[in-house]
Amino acid sequence: MSRKLLLAGNWKMNLGLTQTEAYFSKLKLPASEQIEVLFFPSTALLERAKNAALKANPKIQIGAQNTHWELKGAFTGEVSVTVLKELNIQWTLVGHSERRQLFGETDQTASKRALTALQSGLHVLYCVGETKAERESNQTNAVLKRQLEPLLKPEFKSYFGKTLALAYEPVWAIGTGLTATPKQAQDAHHEIRKRIPAPEHTRILYGGSVTPETTSELIAQPDIDGALVGGASNDPEKFSQILTNAATI
Ligand code: PGA
Repeated sequence: MSRKLLLAGNWKMNLGLTQTEAYFSKLKLPASEQIEVLFFPSTALLERAKNAALKANPKIQIGAQNTHWELKGAFTGEVSVTVLKELNIQWTLVGHSERRQLFGETDQTASKRALTALQSGLHVLYCVGETKAERESNQTNAVLKRQLEPLLKPEFKSYFGKTLALAYEPVWAIGTGLTATPKQAQDAHHEIRKRIPAPEHTRILYGGSVTPETTSELIAQPDIDGALVGGASNDPEKFSQILTNAATI
């Protein structure tokens, strides 16, 4: 398989300055060249995190948890791609379900954020996934189709397989301890891969209560190219174990 695994930690609004700066010296990175490692710290700590990561191991990548679609302007509380680039940040997360559910993000606004970031040279990890009610009413595939639709416009095409990666994160699995079964995750990843350009080269990560125990079986699935980890990424030892387990696949 030509796709490198990507293991990402989404720290959300959790780790503070001291924890962020201490984190990378406790992290054990696998020797494998086939695994990329990425973290999404708080926006306010991006520069500190970037410096601490660089010092520990230049292979560790740092991304923002969100970014705006305009390059500057009157958008209180938002962060621009321009500023992220000044801080040498390579990645941004877009469309996380917490942004969608708690802060009114839609498929349209998320895709606008992604396009600006991609056009500015950032890598984007774009999240999709159904709610519990949608899964229970057999809407999973329809929801994925709807969420992916804005990304299927021609202006996104050249980024697939290059700087655009996707994360399938079923909302019912996020922060609940209810990891999707490897089959549920594989089926959804397959469904996503069927719909996108450059399917052979585009990485699709699974997210939702990933733990060291569930990593190997999930990542062993043919369409799962890594994990986006929330809770278990807050602890460098747990995340190191996730990396070790991923490296043994
Ligand atoms: P979780 O979060 O691993 O705590 O379920 C995943 C995410 O929100 O990206």
